Amino acid sequence: MSNYHIKHLEEYFQIHRKSVRDPEGFWEEVAEEHFIWRKRWDKVLSWDFEKPEVKWFEGAKLNITENCIDRHLRIRGEKTAILFEPNDPKEEAEHISYQQLYERVNQFANVLKDQGIKKGDRVCIYLPMIPELAISTLACARIGAIHSVVFAGFSATALSTRINDSDCKMVIASDGSYRGSKTIDLKGIVDEALEECPGVETVLVAKRIHSDIEMKEDRDKWLQPLLDKADTECEPEIMDAEDPLFILYTSGSTGMPKGMVHTTAGYMVYTAYTFKNVFQYRENDVYWCTADIGWITGHSYIVYGPLANGATTVMFEGVPNYPDWGRFWEIVDKHKVTQFYTAPTAIRALAKENLECVEKHDLSSLKVLGSVGEPINEEAWHWYNDNIGKKKCPIVDTWWQTETGGIMISPIPYLTPTKPTYATFPLPGIQLSLMDEKGEEITENQVDGRLCIKFPWPSMARTIWGNHKRYKETYFSTYKNQYFTGDGALRDEVGYYRITGRVDDVIIVSGHNLGTAPIEDAINEHQAVAESAIVGFPHDIKGNALYGYVILKESGESRNHDNLRKEINQIITEHIGPIAKLDKIQFTSGLPKTRSGKIMRRILRKIACNETDNLGDTSTLLNPEVVQEIMDNVLKNLKI
Ligand code: WT7
Repeated sequence: MSNYHIKHLEEYFQIHRKSVRDPEGFWEEVAEEHFIWRKRWDKVLSWDFEKPEVKWFEGAKLNITENCIDRHLRIRGEKTAILFEPNDPKEEAEHISYQQLYERVNQFANVLKDQGIKKGDRVCIYLPMIPELAISTLACARIGAIHSVVFAGFSATALSTRINDSDCKMVIASDGSYRGSKTIDLKGIVDEALEECPGVETVLVAKRIHSDIEMKEDRDKWLQPLLDKADTECEPEIMDAEDPLFILYTSGSTGMPKGMVHTTAGYMVYTAYTFKNVFQYRENDVYWCTADIGWITGHSYIVYGPLANGATTVMFEGVPNYPDWGRFWEIVDKHKVTQFYTAPTAIRALAKENLECVEKHDLSSLKVLGSVGEPINEEAWHWYNDNIGKKKCPIVDTWWQTETGGIMISPIPYLTPTKPTYATFPLPGIQLSLMDEKGEEITENQVDGRLCIKFPWPSMARTIWGNHKRYKETYFSTYKNQYFTGDGALRDEVGYYRITGRVDDVIIVSGHNLGTAPIEDAINEHQAVAESAIVGFPHDIKGNALYGYVILKESGESRNHDNLRKEINQIITEHIGPIAKLDKIQFTSGLPKTRSGKIMRRILRKIACNETDNLGDTSTLLNPEVVQEIMDNVLKNLKI
């Protein structure tokens, strides 16, 4: 029996038991089986959730790109590593073989070195979904630079905050990007962001839309001429197991995004292992994850996990509805995709369209369907199962987080019986717990609680960049000796888990993790706004949408409310990005607060969700009359 590839349900149980009984032995065997180590580890694991400090494979030396690329050259040199499908279906797809990927990553790595980037330097990557995004990410890893990929839908302010937080020396960008029928001026956003970023010395610019952009002398350099001159060999930097591999920002409950730090060896082992098992990847499969590499899903399951397994991974530049709503299925058909991994919000949007968009295409190559990012509701699950999988493809509902680095709870396809809306069992090596309000672990089944993890796993984030205290407070202080996920979950009679949603001030909109505080901070920047509070409410396609309660300053009260709504959304777009725009904005004279001045979001949430029958006790509020005012305004059907 190989620990690396699970093939039967009984084996899953055995392996999971073993991984709990002897976690070090279990992960040691996995690590031995499939990777190139320049030096073996001295110790598999040391950990302390109090500090918190976790180290995996201490003493080992390796380079992750050697494992993701070099190792495959002998037997898979000609095999497609990255299959790039452009935004415009008329533009030809690009098949980048492992050999070509090797050369292109090395050339890029040499360019980085020539530009003065060294091991440990931070490099910000702000690129659309074009091959340079994957290649530059790997090039950083090749030379031991720490990449910080920022999703290219983020605004200039969001970009500059992230660049400054981790002190990036360089930004890798493109002139612009294609998104459906639109072109976006990315370089303009970078220029605006960099006005606030004195630490950035160099901007490398890839050409994508061939627009006429301004290049700032001494700072901005066209990428291609540098690549053309660069050598195709670049010795990998030999890294320690616990050297940082990348920083990736995620929203939190306060204004500053959290730069989650992932390290090298554990992340590699875990993403490789979970990719293999959750997608049951076989040698000639064509795997496609529709996420953007700007999110953790793209890091772990477009780039590192698939490449560590020598897989063919599709990278799609475009959007699901361009040129029409059949695009995903056209791509599945064209490239004979075998594993398809997407988000519930996309599934819900696709399900609203005419079935003809699906039926025109041959989807018989599909073997496994995946879902990630938010709870998948029953209707969406069935639509996916019936119309895309034709009831023959298991759906893997994968639960995980930016912080966990890899998939934590998921069925193993063809082994674990699936159940709509349930992510089912923890993967091997993962020890979950449900905690009650009093901070005790709940041991029985058929209950719900707060989802925690009680034992370290190799790909967990090790800290928040520059703020270990916040790391400890956010994840390790709610429950003693537990990593707290921020999610609620239910465990059924057989031990399957169903994630019920966030229990903190994070709202998941279209699969994007949005903290309420940064949005409120942005709104409060408007000169007419005194205070605001954001809550989520259910939305057909997005899962959740945002509802804002806004108190105006006296000066703002006489202004036209519709104009104010537009301006508020404009400010949010500038500060965070269009994904954080509010669907509803209600102006109010006050917000319900506790006597200690804390906004009672629970009440605001109920009003937004139209659950006003059961608001609970409001008499202890500082200002109960405000609740009545807000409800009256809703009832009066005022435009919101
Ligand atoms: C939050 C993490 C990890 C990839 C993308 C999101 C929610 C994620 C599921 C799922 C229910 C899910 C959780 C989690 N979530 N997957 N299968 N079922 N909820 O990463 O942006 O760090 O968000 O997404 O609430 O805590 P992220």
